[in-house]
Amino acid sequence: MRAYPESKVVLNERCKSPLVDLLLISEDRFLVVGDGDTISLGDKTLQFIFAPWVHWPKTMVTYLKEDKMLFSCNFFSSHYASDELILKDEKKIYNAAKRYYAENMMPFRASIIKNIEKIKSLDIEIIAPSHGPIYKEKKDFIINAYSDWSSDKVKNKVIIPYVSMRDSTEKMVEYLKKSLTKKGITVKIFHLNDSGDIGEFAMELVDAATLVIGIPAILSGSHPNIVYAAYLVNALKPKVKFISIIGAHGWGKKTVEMLTDIVSTLKAEIIEPVVINGYPKDSDFELLDELAEKISTRHVEIGATD
Ligand SMILES: Cc1cc2nc3c(=O)[nH]c(=O)nc-3n(C[C@H](O)[C@H](O)[C@H](O)COP(=O)(O)O)c2cc1C
Repeated sequence: MRAYPESKVVLNERCKSPLVDLLLISEDRFLVVGDGDTISLGDKTLQFIFAPWVHWPKTMVTYLKEDKMLFSCNFFSSHYASDELILKDEKKIYNAAKRYYAENMMPFRASIIKNIEKIKSLDIEIIAPSHGPIYKEKKDFIINAYSDWSSDKVKNKVIIPYVSMRDSTEKMVEYLKKSLTKKGITVKIFHLNDSGDIGEFAMELVDAATLVIGIPAILSGSHPNIVYAAYLVNALKPKVKFISIIGAHGWGKKTVEMLTDIVSTLKAEIIEPVVINGYPKDSDFELLDELAEKISTRHVEIGATD
């Protein structure tokens, strides 16, 4: 165990160089710790535990042994500010925590799963994250929520971000929503003509089984708002299992090629897109019913839950 020297910055080795390079803090101000190292503050003992890629490549959490308290850094954080220091009602925090997870943690799902296992070996009574409330009685709630979001399990849910200039794509989206709803699937639509709250869209991506992108052709390609949404999906790496595309065009069909390229790093299966010419007709609605049937079947096959 190390004695704690005055005015030192305690960190792991990988954090040192940014602080030296960016803030010009002199080398002798650092006390570098390794995974599992402890420091005595007299009657309190701090243990440092590496949790790499829980948002940052060098994330480290700190365990205060005597108080069984975990200072969890970004882990278990939420986008929530309140004068209520210790959380009493989990209903208040669920969406704020899910939004934080969606916007910051989702791309690092595999690391989150590993690091939840790592901290489970500690006897924890209190969790104090960098953002959001402290968890005391409710600590299992936030651990369970993070476990659930990062797990491979998906919900029987389809999310449909779309843009429509002359209502053809919108009509298709509305029809597909009805068809999926009749099959007991939850459908969330995001109209991206205006900038809107893209964070809400990210939150729905956390556990949806399927993403259907609604897009009209424009300027020999895809509408820029949808290109942006698809780029975001690719960067956030949600666990969606299926992706499809619906939409209208006038004379070219590059939309499908362009969008599947943008989401190419996702492991999702592409379900055959429905791209039509102009305003939808009866035969196009039949194709949308077929798409809804395929989605429903695949949801049953993978055991997507309500
Ligand atoms: C400004 C503008 C640009 C368009 N550019 C293309 C294009 O490059 N390629 C194409 O196939 N259709 C193009 N179209 C035709 C639309 O894709 C077509 O009208 C489609 O039905 C529009 O779908 P929406 O009603 O959902 O907006 C364009 C339409 C508009 C209004």
